[in-house]
Amino acid sequence: MIKKCLFPAAGYGTRFLPATKSMPKEMMPVVNKPLIEYGVEEALAAGLNEISIVTGRGKRALADHFDTNYELEHQIKGTDKEPMLNDIRRLIDECSFSYTRQQEMKGLGHAILTGQTLIGDEPFAVLLADDLCINQGDGVLSQMVRLFKQFRCSIVAIQEVPADETGKYGIIAGDMIREDLYRITDMVEKPAPEDAPSSLAIIGRYILTPDIFDIIRNTSPGKNGEVQITDALLQQAKDGCVLAYRFKGKRFDCGSVDGYIAATNYCYDQFYQKNNGG
Ligand code: G1P
Repeated sequence: MIKKCLFPAAGYGTRFLPATKSMPKEMMPVVNKPLIEYGVEEALAAGLNEISIVTGRGKRALADHFDTNYELEHQIKGTDKEPMLNDIRRLIDECSFSYTRQQEMKGLGHAILTGQTLIGDEPFAVLLADDLCINQGDGVLSQMVRLFKQFRCSIVAIQEVPADETGKYGIIAGDMIREDLYRITDMVEKPAPEDAPSSLAIIGRYILTPDIFDIIRNTSPGKNGEVQITDALLQQAKDGCVLAYRFKGKRFDCGSVDGYIAATNYCYDQFYQKNNGG
């Protein structure tokens, strides 16, 4: 039912300069796998195999990563290195990849609108690759797709954050439907703690119904002069219904150095060391 997942990936990644000067921030490796690959794995596990990527200048490595490298394959064929490409090969086989370029950085809302040409008129997911989510059971998008089947409206993933961190996130207020689900009544992009309607923060997983595109088109620039998806979603919530889902699982903010290091340590312990005889 939902087949497409949009990856806004045009941003500069300034917090990781100089590493991101000529390399897309989405290609930063957590152990030996780039961030965006974790994201595509999560999307595919949720049944979303049409991957739509909004890229920009200097982001060609993304398209190259999701393509066959014949020279490399030839070099390592039959060696003990060959299995190291198994995961990415599976993604290339099972997903389709399409790209469009965002000319100007005018905010996440604008990036999502740029993706309309790839999405068309159907519900879709949005995944921000620098929010790395890791679960023992179902991934966050799988949990959200299940909810969408039931409620058929836009859904954002949320997490409780410390009160002094509200300025880093979109913050919601809502009526509780059940322990892990709210119907949104208010949303503010990156409020100061004293202006925050709660400490429930949006993290980078969304399911959006396609009417969001017209709403974004009519949304004026907000916080930092950028077109914010948070503002468009508040309008959608007022017109109908938007849900906020407190997901199950771990999330690392790999857009920050601390979160990135924590993710690296966690993945090293959980996956790499275990699989490599540690
Ligand atoms: C974006 C959104 C924000 C959301 C966050 C999640 O902000 O604008 O509402 O809480 O992603 O990571 P960014 O981190 O891109 O500044």
